[in-house]
Amino acid sequence: MFLSFKFFLMAKFPKNFLWGAAASAHQVEGGNFNDWTEWEKKNAQRLAKKAKRYWQLWQQEKFPEMFEPENYISGRTCDHYHYYQKDFDIAKSLNHNAHRLSIEWSRVEPKKGRINQQEIEHYRQVILALKQRGLEPFVTLYHWSLPVWLAEKGGWLSLKTPHYFDRYVRIVSENLFDLVDYWITINEPNVYSAKCFLKGAWPPQKKSIFKYFRVLNNLVRAHQLAYHSLHSIDLDCRVGLAKNNINFINNFLADYFWNKYFLNRIRQKQDFIGLNYYFCSGWPKKKGLSVSDLGWQIYPEGIYHLLKDLKKYNRPIYITENGLADGRDSKRAKFIRNHLFWVQRAIKEGIDVRGYFYWSLLDNFEWDKGFWPRFGLVEIDYRTMERRIRPSAEIYAQICRENKL
Ligand code: FCB
Repeated sequence: MFLSFKFFLMAKFPKNFLWGAAASAHQVEGGNFNDWTEWEKKNAQRLAKKAKRYWQLWQQEKFPEMFEPENYISGRTCDHYHYYQKDFDIAKSLNHNAHRLSIEWSRVEPKKGRINQQEIEHYRQVILALKQRGLEPFVTLYHWSLPVWLAEKGGWLSLKTPHYFDRYVRIVSENLFDLVDYWITINEPNVYSAKCFLKGAWPPQKKSIFKYFRVLNNLVRAHQLAYHSLHSIDLDCRVGLAKNNINFINNFLADYFWNKYFLNRIRQKQDFIGLNYYFCSGWPKKKGLSVSDLGWQIYPEGIYHLLKDLKKYNRPIYITENGLADGRDSKRAKFIRNHLFWVQRAIKEGIDVRGYFYWSLLDNFEWDKGFWPRFGLVEIDYRTMERRIRPSAEIYAQICRENKL
């Protein structure tokens, strides 16, 4: 009797734990005009052709749309710009009490120094809609898409961009600080710089190790400036970034450069750490792991090791992304449960984890993969914009409601 009561207590998450899902503006809003939209139009044909070479063997029957150039153009995506009220109704009905979203810089500052007050008002309404439904907003200021004018000036390669970013951050925060307590300055600086400047796969596709480090360091600078600006406008707000970490097995060098380099540089300038976790990597390959539709190896225990590693920074941690592409919804519920099991284990061992955001609330535009990967708790029919709640979303909803596994 005593034991089972103790077990019951142990399965609970801490009081006030935040439960929700994450999204980014470019991936869900629709109707954007930024460096990505321009790049998509020029590259859709090429990406469709590349998919034929790369994915043909194992995914073609499931996702024939991956061979269509339209798959690679964000266009209307889920039209969340107009459907946000409905989408937040769904999140609330699924017992979420928090939501991570991003602000699209190109909407707020479509031309250099020209602020679109209407778009700022739009974001006020979006954040108010969250608060009215009891969802705590986590607001990302930069999730990978740049205004075209800034991309033309060299984007993150330019030493001036951290200052442009800081100016934009001040404007946003002066207008929204009364509604927002949690700011995420930058999403996954390491993924962004590696994909754009090491792999040369994302815009502006400039492959060079020197450029990679220049961009990474400019992002460090941008975060530091924004950290001070946000606190100068609202002393009590909490500022962090969303950091993608990979559970590297037997690879200390990769672990240092990928997981620690950026966090070490901003050590004193973060009030919390946002952890984005998707997969493990390394040699020898872990045997018997299942994979998502994107081929990412599912390794729930990895999140535990990464959380333990973050302890040294001595900051509260939020899991700001964790999820998988699973068009058939056959693995998602187990994926969430198993990751949460390991999160809970880390909490029991003293790691201060305060929230979990599944990626993503809705199916959405997955960058250079386009629409075929299905990450959503909610399925989108892109022709009709109909939203359908997946069975796994209900299972996650129960965890959110009971605050336990
Ligand atoms: C993360 C990104 C997010 C989404 C997921 C699948 O690396 O932050 O925008 O694309 O991967």
